[in-house]
Amino acid sequence: MRCFVALPIPDKYRQECQALVASLEKHSLPVKWVASHNFHVTLKFIGETREEMLPKIIAKVALSVQGVPPISLSLETVGVFPLQGTPRVIWVGIRQKEDRLGALAKQLNHQLAALGFPADARGFSPHLTLGRVRSGSTIERVLLKREFSTKTFQGSEVVLYESRLTPLGPVYTPLKIFPLT
Ligand code: 2AM
Repeated sequence: MRCFVALPIPDKYRQECQALVASLEKHSLPVKWVASHNFHVTLKFIGETREEMLPKIIAKVALSVQGVPPISLSLETVGVFPLQGTPRVIWVGIRQKEDRLGALAKQLNHQLAALGFPADARGFSPHLTLGRVRSGSTIERVLLKREFSTKTFQGSEVVLYESRLTPLGPVYTPLKIFPLT
């Protein structure tokens, strides 16, 4: 199975991101847009693992979130990865007073490394992926320019998801919810 840990986004803000996607879709860009029910902020991509590992993974995620209160954040600006060159991923940025998501991602990296899951070599840049540019295609950055910002809201849980890749797109199933308290 393939899994990852993420911060889900409350409905209201997923809808705001969906409205943003709708405005970007008007350009008919060569982009595979993420379905709005799948919007999330990835904290740790675990990747392929055996199901027998799940109890250990759950224990490590629980340790990572232990004592972590809800996290205040807002979503703002449209950006792309990589920062230079041909865009591949279109995202909305995350604004926080202190980088608490980064601290949590670091904890998850640290705890899960003990089970043999390597830290992401690219480091952690909190974002919500809106779409992925189709391979072999390019898009003009200027078409993505938008004023976008949400109110501040609370991320109040972290979720371990299973990701199944299907011809109709990925299906994310929550395996375990970890409330932040
Ligand atoms: P993304 O938000 O940066 O695109 C579920 O597949 C999530 O895990 C995706 O949203 C993606 O984060 C992240 N992900 C998928 N494949 C990955 C990989 N090979 N390395 C790191 N993160 C990955």
